[in-house]
Amino acid sequence: MSFVRIISTGTSIPKKIISNSDLEKIVDTNDEWITARTGIKERRMADENHASSDLGVEASLKAIERASLDPKDIDVIIVGTITPDYIFPSTACLIQERIGASNAYAFDVSAGCSGYLFAMQVAKSLIDGGSAKTILVIGAETMTRVMDYEDRGTCILFGDGAGATILQKSDKQGILSICLGSDGGGWDLLYQPGGGSRMPPTEQSIKDRMHYLKMNGKEVFKMAVKSMGNASVEAIEKAGIKAEDIDIFIAHQANYRIMDAVRKRINLPTEKVFMNISKYGNTSSASVPIALDEALEEGRIKEGDLVLFSAFGAGFTWGASVIQW
Ligand code: ACO
Repeated sequence: MSFVRIISTGTSIPKKIISNSDLEKIVDTNDEWITARTGIKERRMADENHASSDLGVEASLKAIERASLDPKDIDVIIVGTITPDYIFPSTACLIQERIGASNAYAFDVSAGCSGYLFAMQVAKSLIDGGSAKTILVIGAETMTRVMDYEDRGTCILFGDGAGATILQKSDKQGILSICLGSDGGGWDLLYQPGGGSRMPPTEQSIKDRMHYLKMNGKEVFKMAVKSMGNASVEAIEKAGIKAEDIDIFIAHQANYRIMDAVRKRINLPTEKVFMNISKYGNTSSASVPIALDEALEEGRIKEGDLVLFSAFGAGFTWGASVIQW
């Protein structure tokens, strides 16, 4: 039996920190509210001359070096992002050129904050099907670029960062299951109205602040808890394990209350939930690979451990995956 395995990880975390007290000076909010409702204390912001591809390049080079690979060994690059450098070309092509992965083909996946899991599924299928051996799967976001710093309901939540992983075939262990889902009925509960072909940028659209992320937080919250919970149960079943066998739960870092509700749904003790939301906020597609990298760095994952990923995002989209490390 063969599996697809994550053999290496890397991250890019911008240096600039935006704390809750920094936001208190911009919008009508406070540290107590943000901490109690979300678990976020601070988030990172990329320098103004850095875009998502710059973060993706740094994370990728770290992952490639740790795997002792040459960039030319990479067959495919897939980037999950909702904050690409350009509408086209893809951020994956920009990263390919910068890292010198000249033998790869490259493309982006747009699946909201579930982008990393969707990209992982595509990578797994390509490796399982025999058309690729080594795939670089990245989540790279500059969410602060689409934040409306006059909207306290959203601007406190998101931050910038990138996480990269390298996937290869393995005879021993790896991804046991991936379950994905979408419900396009929720498209306008979390979206960026302006800038695409529906509403090309005009003076009016910019004045109306339509090129910023809009969200119905309450509806997104309810749907996230339900969908991440269902997907996690499904992924656990499909992997042929029991919830109590899970060693660590790495969820999309959107809100500690969402993660905690999903934890309760699958009946896991709190100490099995990995959280770094207090430091980075919601980094969308980057949150799962960044959390994975940090969990590995902290020695929270040992060989043979069962790791559960789960994510939810704009679309709506959601997914979960069980991996034997
Ligand atoms: N500071 C202080 N008060 C605030 C703030 C703020 N930053 N934001 C909202 N409030 C106020 C509201 O105006 C409201 O006041 P009112 O009662 O006087 O009307 C009150 O706080 C309660 O607001 P709610 O929106 O009901 O607060 P809620 O408990 O739902 O928390 C939150 C809001 C944190 C946004 C929550 O709904 C949430 O986390 N939702 C999910 C968001 C999410 O995860 N999105 C990302 C999905 S992934 C992707 O694809 C991008």
